[in-house]
Amino acid sequence: MSLFGTLRSTRNLVFGAGQRAALPGYAATLGRRALVVTDERFSAQADFQAIVDGLRRAGVDVKVFDRTIAELPLDCINSALEAGAAFGADMVIGIGGGSCLDAAKVAALLLTHGGRASDYYGEFKVPGPVLPLLLLPTTAGTGSEVTPVAVITDPDRAIKVGIASPHLICHTAICDPELTYSCPPGLTAVSGADALTHAIEAFTTVRREPTGSIVHEHVFLGKNALSDHYALLAISHICASLKRAYDNGQDIEARQRLMFGATAAGLAFGVAGTAAAHAVQYPVGAMTHTAHGAGVAVMMPYVMEFNRNHCEAEIGEIGQAMGLDIGGRSAEQQADATIDAVAALFASIGIPATIADLGIGKDQLPQVAEQAMGSARLIKNNPRPLDLASMTVLVEAAFGGSRDALRAHSRSRKAS
Ligand SMILES: NC(=O)c1ccc[n+]([C@@H]2O[C@H](COP(=O)([O-])OP(=O)(O)OC[C@H]3O[C@@H](n4cnc5c(N)ncnc54)[C@H](O)[C@@H]3O)[C@@H](O)[C@H]2O)c1
Ligand SMILES: [Fe+2]
Repeated sequence: MSLFGTLRSTRNLVFGAGQRAALPGYAATLGRRALVVTDERFSAQADFQAIVDGLRRAGVDVKVFDRTIAELPLDCINSALEAGAAFGADMVIGIGGGSCLDAAKVAALLLTHGGRASDYYGEFKVPGPVLPLLLLPTTAGTGSEVTPVAVITDPDRAIKVGIASPHLICHTAICDPELTYSCPPGLTAVSGADALTHAIEAFTTVRREPTGSIVHEHVFLGKNALSDHYALLAISHICASLKRAYDNGQDIEARQRLMFGATAAGLAFGVAGTAAAHAVQYPVGAMTHTAHGAGVAVMMPYVMEFNRNHCEAEIGEIGQAMGLDIGGRSAEQQADATIDAVAALFASIGIPATIADLGIGKDQLPQVAEQAMGSARLIKNNPRPLDLASMTVLVEAAFGGSRDALRAHSRSRKAS
């Protein structure tokens, strides 16, 4: 096997407590008029005012848009766009959770190229560079500060839609863990669980033949040597810190490691992609109005079990990055222990065990399976090829809580 890797990343990535102070220095090199996209929670904080004051002192004029709504309904993007256009913004700064960062990405896109968000749904639809984007996450988290995708709720679509383009990768990401200290335990749990699923899915996704055109054919091109590096880095930091940060939000070391891991997970999945756990979350989230992170985390142990015959060695490596004492065991035993440990970690931070617990009814399962199959960019990345019949097996297991049945099924397929 040849060594192949791709990294698509920001021009600048700065990580560290207090580093939000670096923002004005970067902004002042990029323009004079910043549209700052955030939400009403953060715009009411003293930290936010200090950031705006710092920008103005550096000679950057600021227009604040603070009406971002969680999960990003299309309407609020249009309002951000109007605010930015009237102001004549020459850069966009996003500060907040993934919803605010994605709103900033789409605002920068539409301010530059015009049209409607729906013109760009899918992969590689953005025609060229967008206004300089500077992103500061306040959750740990989606990784959006380093990824090439923005995720939107469009009332005309049954499930959330993505705009995926390398042009959406921001110019400068500043990850200051102090901005996450205020996250309550429930938010710490779902956003941290989302980050761990990014790393696990990136590490277990399909590995494609590295043809000379692979990087132009896929925004999310599958597992490779560079995404693997960031995925394992992410897994070790997140698994050492997620429960600690959930139990004690003032555990500064845990907060730092969790955010470091979430950004590393963004670097991994931003090039490798995610797969079935994310594909199933889109319809489940739309039907139950539950958080993205909760839905992907519920699915993750089932998806690992479902995929294991196609990535058993990788699952064992994940367990070792988690710090499990599994060296010397068989590949099968390592995978068993790893999947159990992921499920136990999620249970310990209050993630439900089944999609039934999230509010899915039995009669909705065919629709969940069918709509999950519609996320082509995610389905094509799953290590085990998926069709509607096998997707139905997966969602039925995640509904009934029958991970053991999937395990027995994998064992019998392996034996035969
Ligand atoms: N672009 C990407 O790469 C990517 C990846 C995964 C998920 N997403 C998307 O990101 C969104 C989820 O983002 P999220 O999980 O960061 O949450 P979020 O941005 O939707 O925010 C959820 C809530 O948490 C609050 N919040 C944010 N930071 C806080 C803090 N420090 N203290 C207290 N409250 C805080 C927000 O005000 C909001 O009420 C979804 O729309 C999801 O689809 C995007
Ligand atoms: Fe996610």
